[in-house]
Amino acid sequence: MQNPAPETPSTATPRPDRVHREVVSFVRRSARMNASQEKAWQAWHSSRVVPVAQGQTETSVAPQPPLDWAEVFGRRAPLLVEIGSGTGESLVSMARQHPQANVVAFEVFQPAVASTLGRMAREGVDNVRIVMADGQQGLEHLFEPASISELWLFFADPWHKSRHHKRRLVSPEFAQLVRSRLVTDGRWRLATDWQDYAEWMREVLDAAPGLVNEHLDPADPEHTGWAPRLELRPLTKYERKGLAAGRTIRDLTYRKTS
Ligand SMILES: C[S@@+](CC[C@H](N)C(=O)[O-])C[C@H]1O[C@@H](n2cnc3c(N)ncnc32)[C@H](O)[C@@H]1O
Repeated sequence: MQNPAPETPSTATPRPDRVHREVVSFVRRSARMNASQEKAWQAWHSSRVVPVAQGQTETSVAPQPPLDWAEVFGRRAPLLVEIGSGTGESLVSMARQHPQANVVAFEVFQPAVASTLGRMAREGVDNVRIVMADGQQGLEHLFEPASISELWLFFADPWHKSRHHKRRLVSPEFAQLVRSRLVTDGRWRLATDWQDYAEWMREVLDAAPGLVNEHLDPADPEHTGWAPRLELRPLTKYERKGLAAGRTIRDLTYRKTS
């Protein structure tokens, strides 16, 4: 998707009581919910949305001890995490196909979270909990090192303009955070419909220490580094849009080696 223009930063001298806004990978939009989102939110948020201590902004996560996810879910199971789950199209389908896992999703946009809650209820999916906050900060503060079996980042906001590249979620620093939270042999699965972001991901992640591109083998011309389409990933609105516009969908898989 195209990113809306972020707010223009003020050039005035910052007041000391002003909240310091960090560079984030998302844009705040109107949190108005339609009637069905409102209904789903009221019915499900208390049992499916996990409250966390927030930092200076509404979407931030304060430094805090990692959550006991076995307690949150009421069972011990492998943890799968999606950052930027949107309305839950991939999330709910993927969670249904991993009934043996506890699935945690991060999404900052409340109407999208409400739609996800409605989708979970309609599809009878019960192994998902949502944190309505920045997934980057959530990953850092809410998970023990070496605790996540898989991380999913599907159709992340591409931030096309060079001056916005700093807002892209995939960066060398984020790669090291992901690596630290994955278990050994854990997987980071990504998909995007933007070739320039796909190449950016390759550049950053192929060079990331402790992560290996599962589909790259310089000795084998069949293994060029692009993963085959992840079979379990459903065809979502973003993928359909990309295909309709003639773009190539790129999947990537990295494995934590150390
Ligand atoms: C382009 S949508 C893709 C949604 C979904 N992954 C899919 O494939 O249908 C990206 C979503 O990521 C969310 N997002 C971006 N950065 C985020 C972050 N750091 N933490 C949580 N959500 C984020 C946005 O609010 C948006 O809903």
